[in-house]
Amino acid sequence: MKTQTLGQSPLAVSQIAFGCMRISGTWNPSDFTPAHEEMGRQALYAAYESGYTLFDHADIYGRTLCELIHGRLLAESPDLRSKTVIATKCGIRFGGDPSPNSPHRWDFSKSHIIESAERSLERLKINQIDLFQLHRPDLLMDPMEIAEAFQILADRKLVKYFGVSNFRPSMVDLLNSGLPDPLIVNQIEISLDNLAPFEDGQLDSHLIHDLTPLAWSPLAGGWLGSSSLEPSQFSDRNAKLHALLGDLSKKYNTSRQNIALSFLLKHPSHIIPIIGTTNPERIKDSALAAEIELSREDWYQLFTTAKNQPLP
Ligand SMILES: NC(=O)c1ccc[n+]([C@@H]2O[C@H](COP(=O)([O-])OP(=O)(O)OC[C@H]3O[C@@H](n4cnc5c(N)ncnc54)[C@H](OP(=O)(O)O)[C@@H]3O)[C@@H](O)[C@H]2O)c1
Repeated sequence: MKTQTLGQSPLAVSQIAFGCMRISGTWNPSDFTPAHEEMGRQALYAAYESGYTLFDHADIYGRTLCELIHGRLLAESPDLRSKTVIATKCGIRFGGDPSPNSPHRWDFSKSHIIESAERSLERLKINQIDLFQLHRPDLLMDPMEIAEAFQILADRKLVKYFGVSNFRPSMVDLLNSGLPDPLIVNQIEISLDNLAPFEDGQLDSHLIHDLTPLAWSPLAGGWLGSSSLEPSQFSDRNAKLHALLGDLSKKYNTSRQNIALSFLLKHPSHIIPIIGTTNPERIKDSALAAEIELSREDWYQLFTTAKNQPLP
């Protein structure tokens, strides 16, 4: 797969990232079985074999199970580490953490950021996180406190680069103002089902700051790639978009999911879609999306159909 660098860093990664959120098959550790682990391992192996090098985690995925599965795989096959750019995230705390009455919340305190990185390193069985991201903006975030935490993690060589997730452009500016090196990525929800970042200034801001957008849920949870619409997904707009994806998949001799991914890849901000499938065939197929060159006409046809209104 082709590679690109992240933000202003020299860190080269695959143009499509592999999302690890679903590799545990469950978010309930008491339901987790060896069969779940095997499914996660097969998904990771398929990703390595297909050329993905950017692997996106978070401490909360599978309530730590996803990092643990990947860590066991890396320990067993240490040669894979050099083919892996590990991204993980911190800052979301579920209710009950640390005491039974603690509410669900966001926490960018210095101590929580540092402890989260240390625990992710243990689970992933690695010495350094390549890309450490703040998961969802903490309304109480203090940029100077975050800068201190980042500096400590960088000085201890526990983290190489930093990024954020679900940050508005003004929050990126705020955080960047206190950091010695700029953030290199911001994960945002962006897909044919969520076009807002194309028009609300988010992608402009990424281009201005040389901040790589990582697109989460690039298939809107799957329906953009699916061969049929569930009754709950049916609307006039979805039916038209689904039909167009089918037509274009024939025209470009590819799958619907790859048309939806190539729509994101065409934007000049160099969006990296993070795929979420754990199906080895889909993982392999999605790697081919980077080779599709959608025409400008087809891109706009997709945009106006997804927006469900003509351009002015
Ligand atoms: N920063 C954040 O706040 C945030 C939030 C959410 C996610 N993320 C990241 O983004 C990644 C991707 O998110 P996502 O999982 O929501 O992405 P997605 O690719 O939009 O959705 C993945 C889901 O779609 C299904 N799917 C994929 N292709 C399909 C097809 N052709 N036909 C039918 N179903 C299909 C998959 O099922 P199968 O496994 O059966 O293929 C899976 O359940 C996550 O792994 C995570 O790393 C970040």
